[in-house]
This record gives sequence, C-alpha cells and structure tokens, in this order.
Amino acid sequence: MAARSADTIAGVEEMVGGSPVVLAPSTSLGHLGALPVLVGDEDAVLYDIQVHASVQGALPELRLRGVPCEAVRHNRLDRLEERIAVLARKHARVFYLCDGIYSMHGDVLDVQGLYGLLDRQPSLFAYVDDAHGASWSVRFGAPSDEPTSSRVIVSAERTQTAFK
Ligand SMILES: Cc1ncc(COP(=O)(O)O)c(C=O)c1O
Repeated sequence: MAARSADTIAGVEEMVGGSPVVLAPSTSLGHLGALPVLVGDEDAVLYDIQVHASVQGALPELRLRGVPCEAVRHNRLDRLEERIAVLARKHARVFYLCDGIYSMHGDVLDVQGLYGLLDRQPSLFAYVDDAHGASWSVRFGAPSDEPTSSRVIVSAERTQTAFK
C-alpha cells in the first residue's frame, strides 16, 4: 500500500510540474491537516471573508495557538495589502487564505493581482482553495497561467475537477 501511495503522489507531482504534493481523503481534511503545519506560531493569517467554510474550519486551532487570524473584505486585494504591510512588521510570514472560484457566487480570485502582491510583499504566502477551479481552464490544475510561485499553495479537489 505504501509503495502505491508513493507512486500516486509521484504521478500527481509530475502532473503539476514537479511541485510537492500532499494527498488527503477530502478537501476539508486536507485543510485541517495542512494549515496547522504550514502556519507557524510566529505567522499571521488573513482570510477572505468568503473563503470556503472548510478553510475557515482550520482557524480555531490556529487561534488557540495565538496566531492572529483576521478576515479581509471579499476580493479586496487593496485592503489585503494594507494589512500585510502592518502584520509583516511583527510576523515572519503572512498567509492569505482564499478560493480560486468562490462557491456562493462563482466569482474568481484576481490571480494577476495576487501575483503582483506576492512580488511586492515578500512575507506573503497564498493558500488557495481551488476545489472549483483546478484543471478547469489551465493545464496541470494551476490556478492561472502565471509562473508558479513557491509561496502559493493550491488545494485541488479531484472529484470536482477534470481529474475525475
Ligand atoms: C471551495 C470548496 N472547498 C472545499 C469543499 C469541501 O470539499 P470536501 O467535501 O472534499 O471536504 C467544497 C465543497 O463543496 C468547496 O466547494
């Protein structure tokens, strides 16, 4: 079984162009497993107020550890940048949690804007729940055709995308 899992992971890593991959039985369990490991005690978290509930489900554990977790108005990258600038003075890294395509209204992340922010704000890391978007429009399930940044973590959902 272990060898088979390793093969599966290697296969998916190849599909996504060599980026490291973690597999989880569901998207929600992926968030609950990944976010407490990715986010350190010295970090801060900003999240889009409409990010999927399964992402927000990981926040109580982070808050219990003393990690500040603040909501940002929906898709307002200008507000996001203001808060990153403030939080980056005291925190090693600032994570932004968002969706690639939002479940309620089907509106999308401003991917170009996010990459601009990543360029300007070196402490920013983006965690994108792309359950509805991965593999929908772009090869390998990347969130856009922009170059992949090692500071972008994408959560992809096998059953809701072209992977199925
Ligand atoms: C954007 C988004 N993220 C996460 C989930 C949860 O997925 P799962 O049922 O695999 O935990 C859903 C469910 O529809 C979703 O729409």
